[in-house]
Amino acid sequence: MSSRLVVLVSGSGTNLQALLDVAADPAYGATVVAVGADRPAIEGLARAERAGLPTFTERVSDHTAREAWDSALAEKIAEYKPDLVVSAGFMKILGPAVLSRFTVVNTHPALLPAFPGAHAVRDALAYGVKVTGCTVHLVDDGVDTGPVIAQTAVPVEDGDDEATLHERIKVVERGLLVEVVGRMAREGWRVSGRTVRLGTTL
Ligand code: GRF
Repeated sequence: MSSRLVVLVSGSGTNLQALLDVAADPAYGATVVAVGADRPAIEGLARAERAGLPTFTERVSDHTAREAWDSALAEKIAEYKPDLVVSAGFMKILGPAVLSRFTVVNTHPALLPAFPGAHAVRDALAYGVKVTGCTVHLVDDGVDTGPVIAQTAVPVEDGDDEATLHERIKVVERGLLVEVVGRMAREGWRVSGRTVRLGTTL
């Protein structure tokens, strides 16, 4: 049976698209069943609609408190009974209502624990590192602090600006996300402290 994925997006949704493309093959082992966002009218939602998928939008500003937004988002996600929630460029910190009910995987455009937060590519450039990359990790209650599942390094090149470096990272990031989510769906995973192992027999 295919694992059910709910994917959360805030922007262009190219990571979502990579999942949609690969999940078209039943052998992948996971299917995107719905796409959620924290803002309307974004390309990520349009991609979902073009794929014929249900979408939902839950805006923080429509709630009196962050906790109420978190609960409403958890309820929306729950409607689709996901086995896994994928935060793919979702630019909000998830709260306890979501995190206590679902396993959430996030993709981040840096080699955590270096450069957490919303400006990882800019921060890496500003620091002057020669190598950065991307991290796929489990989400906990911190900002990009959850246990690392997989990472890939990406070189910083002379003359890079934020856009060129981010684009180089995103090419690698999409491949890593697709690989990790597929393996989690097909093989399962185990967490021991901060160590994540794919495959239940390891
Ligand atoms: C990715 O690099 C993600 O890690 C970061 O924002 C980007 C989202 O890209 N948080 P997209 O919306 O999947 O194209």
